[in-house]
Amino acid sequence: MTDIDVELVNITKKFGELVAVDDVSIQVTRGSFFSILGPSGCGKTTTLKMISGFEEPDNGDVFIGGERVNGVPPNHRRVNMVFQQLALFPLMTVSANVGFGLKMSGVPKADRQARVEEMLEKVDLPGLGDRKPDQLSGGQQQRVAIARCLILDPTVLLLDEPLGALDLKLRDQMKIQLKRLQHEVGTTFIYITHDQSEALVMSDEVAVMNEGHLLQIGAPDELYSNPADYFVASFVGESNAFEGPITHLENGHAVLSADPFDFKSPTHPDIRVGENCRLFIRPERIRLMSSDAGSDALYDNQFPGEIQDVVFDGAVARAFVDLGHNTVITVLVTRTSDTPLPVEGEAVLVGWNALDALCFPE
Ligand SMILES: Nc1ncnc2c1ncn2[C@@H]1O[C@H](COP(=O)(O)OP(=O)(O)OP(=O)(O)O)[C@@H](O)[C@H]1O
Ligand SMILES: [Mg+2]
Repeated sequence: MTDIDVELVNITKKFGELVAVDDVSIQVTRGSFFSILGPSGCGKTTTLKMISGFEEPDNGDVFIGGERVNGVPPNHRRVNMVFQQLALFPLMTVSANVGFGLKMSGVPKADRQARVEEMLEKVDLPGLGDRKPDQLSGGQQQRVAIARCLILDPTVLLLDEPLGALDLKLRDQMKIQLKRLQHEVGTTFIYITHDQSEALVMSDEVAVMNEGHLLQIGAPDELYSNPADYFVASFVGESNAFEGPITHLENGHAVLSADPFDFKSPTHPDIRVGENCRLFIRPERIRLMSSDAGSDALYDNQFPGEIQDVVFDGAVARAFVDLGHNTVITVLVTRTSDTPLPVEGEAVLVGWNALDALCFPE
């Protein structure tokens, strides 16, 4: 028995001239929460459809539970799909909706009822079985849609942006609930989204796609700390980004010129002098100092600036620091009792270590 539930091997799908999915290989571990993350149009839904059988790849193989399923119709694959636009039956009760698939496959009524009850417990909707879908909140309806799929005990549950229709606050709650539900039932989830925060919060592993290409697969922390290229660095998490040519190497650092600033980052073999690069520095890696911290530079990168704005988010605040020359950088400030928060108009110094920056060729 393999512990890989879904495997895509060199999958390619073309629509006419357009290569929607280009030579993508993915392995999804049994029982894991796996996300495919990327901007609109990058090929996420097309990839999911090749797993479910609603599209066939032009090239490459699809394996589910170790079996090659190319050419096998959707209803003969042990996968189930939850769509963005949920299609609950409006005139049926919640219980009837959840039990629908069991009824179709001829499960007797008493047995069905017991399993529906159990499923409603699992998705945190006990006692709501007699309601109609329109008597539930958006988040509750979404859980009914998920329950309706999970009750059929698929090997893999495919979720295509299922939180897309919900408002922001509800999405935040649902993220946590979905992750917990997946953990409880142990079913493999493949979740697609263009929202990086959703992917980071819920997933064991994330595959980042852009323009049909798979750029990187890794745990959320891995993608955040060690992005493979500038696209992943800019798409996953928040960053300050600068662009310009590498002018020279100095003490093991590459120096990028974003006129009139020089920014230092670690060198690596992909970075060559004269080449245009992008440099990223995460807001939490930047230190904010008072402008009288002294003239000796404490950091490889240190610049004077002025606080333009401070935005609170509970325990942390984001300070926007104007360095002049149309350059504003975001600094994450953790609130502690002994450090006063910066105020608008205050003169400050910002600094960060070259090793905390990431630099990639364009
Ligand atoms: N049946 C089709 N015929 C022609 N082109 C298609 C078809 N389905 C998808 N495409 C194209 O393939 C590309 C990838 O589409 P896909 O639906 O996989 O993107 P996506 O990543 O799911 O985007 P979104 O986040 O907007 O849902 C897009 O350029 C889309 O226009
Ligand atoms: Mg899509």
